[in-house]
Amino acid sequence: MIIDNIKLHNFRNYGRLELSVGPSVNIFYGDNAQGKTNLIESINVCSTITSHRTSKDRDLIKLGESEYEISLGLKDLSDGFNTSIFAGFYTEKSDLISGNTAKRILKQDGVQTERIADYLGLCNTVIFAPEDLNIVKGAPASRRKFLNTMISKISPVYFDLLTRTNRLINQKNAYLKSCGGKRSNADDNALDFWDFSLADLTATMIINRYRYILLLADKAVTHHLDISDGSEKLEMSYSTITGSVELIDAYLDKNDMRPNFISQGLSAASESEIKGRLSSFVLSKLRNCRANDIEKSVSTVGIHRDDIDIKLNGLQMRAFSSQGQQRSAALSLKLSELDIIRDITGSAPVLLLDDVFSELDVNRRVKLLSGMTDAQIFITCTDRTYIEDEIAHFARNSENIRYFHVLGGIIEKE
Ligand SMILES: Nc1ncnc2c1ncn2[C@@H]1O[C@H](COP(=O)(O)OP(=O)(O)OP(=O)(O)O)[C@@H](O)[C@H]1O
Ligand SMILES: [Mg+2]
Repeated sequence: MIIDNIKLHNFRNYGRLELSVGPSVNIFYGDNAQGKTNLIESINVCSTITSHRTSKDRDLIKLGESEYEISLGLKDLSDGFNTSIFAGFYTEKSDLISGNTAKRILKQDGVQTERIADYLGLCNTVIFAPEDLNIVKGAPASRRKFLNTMISKISPVYFDLLTRTNRLINQKNAYLKSCGGKRSNADDNALDFWDFSLADLTATMIINRYRYILLLADKAVTHHLDISDGSEKLEMSYSTITGSVELIDAYLDKNDMRPNFISQGLSAASESEIKGRLSSFVLSKLRNCRANDIEKSVSTVGIHRDDIDIKLNGLQMRAFSSQGQQRSAALSLKLSELDIIRDITGSAPVLLLDDVFSELDVNRRVKLLSGMTDAQIFITCTDRTYIEDEIAHFARNSENIRYFHVLGGIIEKE
């Protein structure tokens, strides 16, 4: 699936934009602050419903306006199938929808999609941007976001699961807060209800996250060895509710299921068995921390605290690695994401490369491009001469490359 055209209405600094793009390499160049990243971001938002720069939909609306709309025309080159996807966000002030509450609307071929799970995955993209550094350097939330976004692209039901789990955690937290830190104010029946539902969802989430972290770790170690010319060993492990990973490991090893678990997931019967065990284990953990949670007025145990431990040659990267090593590790992780999506969905995702060329040295640029030969690519840069040689070499045929000049929210094809 490739993107054939992009339409924007009031997105960031774009009032209205209609643009046809090419099936191979699309290069957007122009001075700073003209709208290059905004365009890449619009593609990312429409395909994944997540921005790499903000978690607030309102930031994406053109200043002074009341809604944004993005639509992407998609084409399957193998069978000529066309479809279009649409993501809009409307504030309470927007005249384009009825009602007076803010609303997100998603559509395929003009028909509104009720469930986000039916929408995600229609157009898979992978973005490479300076913000990727946060996956290695930033707070645990950045790593959870990376993991959540990746898994949602491959397994849309995961997104539903995540939304339901987060909703329950938020409800439970609001309740814990209302208890004012006093055990006597807390109703055990209400907390039992949340913990029971949460244990079940949490077990499924942990199994899913663990599998994808193992997959990522496996790919990332190879990419990183390659990028660092064999000198750096990148290790990743899943940090979640204490004892959960050990419980899954024991089950997998006893039944000799580890390779299958990583490559294709478990059979329904095994999944249900391991989920049952893990869910009882999580439930006991939630009950054990109840008194503490009430005292602290917050859920202290759960997947909202998950993290991925990333180490380089045995040392925690966040604390010990250089900026260059962190950048290489972030690139290795994103390349692994690309591999995983391609392997599991069977087709190359669209690649969005925002400003990465100015950030990487020649060796890393070549590594990056060599993994992307069959994909549609969008690249931004300030100076087109800076990347012409590498791109020419990579695209082989210059007819595959289209240049677009970006100036003040207007894009001209060359
Ligand atoms: N919600 C918004 N409404 C209007 N303008 C916005 C909004 N958000 C950002 N902008 C503006 O859009 C302009 C272009 O931003 P963008 O990040 O796309 O620049 P860029 O071309 O990628 O520049 P650089 O080369 O520096 O990365 C900036 O001037 C920014 O202030
Ligand atoms: Mg930019």
